[in-house]
Amino acid sequence: MRRARIIGTGSYMPEKVMANSDFEKYLDTTDEWIVTRTGIRERRIAADGEFTSDLAVNAARKALDMAGLTPTDLDLIVVGTITGDYPWPATACIVQDKLGAGQCGAYDLSAACSGFLYALNNATALIEAGNINRALVIGAETLSRIVDYEDRNTCLLFGDGAGAVILEGQDGDQGVLSTHLHADGSYLELLYQPGFGTAVTPTEALVRDRGYFLKMQGNEVFKVAVKMLTEVAQEALAKNDMTIADVDLLIPHQANIRILEATAKRLKIDQDKVFVNVDKYGNTSAATIPVALDEANRSGRLKDNNIIVLNAFGGGFTWASACLRW
Ligand code: COA
Repeated sequence: MRRARIIGTGSYMPEKVMANSDFEKYLDTTDEWIVTRTGIRERRIAADGEFTSDLAVNAARKALDMAGLTPTDLDLIVVGTITGDYPWPATACIVQDKLGAGQCGAYDLSAACSGFLYALNNATALIEAGNINRALVIGAETLSRIVDYEDRNTCLLFGDGAGAVILEGQDGDQGVLSTHLHADGSYLELLYQPGFGTAVTPTEALVRDRGYFLKMQGNEVFKVAVKMLTEVAQEALAKNDMTIADVDLLIPHQANIRILEATAKRLKIDQDKVFVNVDKYGNTSAATIPVALDEANRSGRLKDNNIIVLNAFGGGFTWASACLRW
């Protein structure tokens, strides 16, 4: 069977580190509260003049290098992001130009923290159908630009970064075995950016009253996230006639260590089979999974024929999973 196989991974995290102690200086919070409630110790912040497309391009170059390809070998670029350089054109088009990737198709997918898995699903389907042969799939965010740094309920959770994979059509058993997408738009107001878009009139008051920024009801998000992350991972296993014992590594969306631990407990998977880097980067939305995948890959944690499950949850709500044979 024709499968989409990951032949290169790459990631890029901005240099600037924002530690929990930086929030202590001006917000009513402590390093201890943040670590206990979220597991996050620090996050990366894009430099002035560094945009989502720049992060994406840096990650993409590393993935291309690993795959031994040049940008003109690509048939498609898909970027999962909710913090594109502009509302339009797509950040993928900007990435294409900065990379020098010729005139291949390029577009963004907006599924918040599930954006990378939605994009992976999309590119995989096009490869399996024979439409294209090589795709660059990216998750990239500069959430620091839409986070309200006066809101202690949200600002310390999020960070910036980008991860990328190169998918290639190959015959055989290795590659993306299945992907699973879900959404429920009735949860809109639990996690969204209400002050940006054509439903909103941009006014000075909107910015002054901080309406522009990301809003979240953390407690409610937490409960639904654990449930959906568990169910969508189980769906991927069932689809492939596998049980949790078959899984070599679970790479979940990195939102909060307590969400990861609660999901692992429900799935009955050992914590040492769950990839965690939320302590270093916080929640980078669509970027968390490809960044984690790249770190796992480069550290030698992914072995030939390993079964890897990816699962994500985010604004929309959206949730998704993928099962890979490495
Ligand atoms: N520092 C110190 N105290 C804080 C605080 C902060 N940064 N933020 C909130 N608090 C306080 C609250 O005011 C509350 O005080 P009270 O008990 O006196 O009312 C207390 O800490 C507990 O707040 P609560 O909101 O119940 O904490 P929590 O355990 O639910 O943790 C989140 C809050 C945001 C960390 C947690 O709900 C969460 O991670 N949710 C999921 C968010 C997420 O991952 N979103 C993205 C999904 S893709």
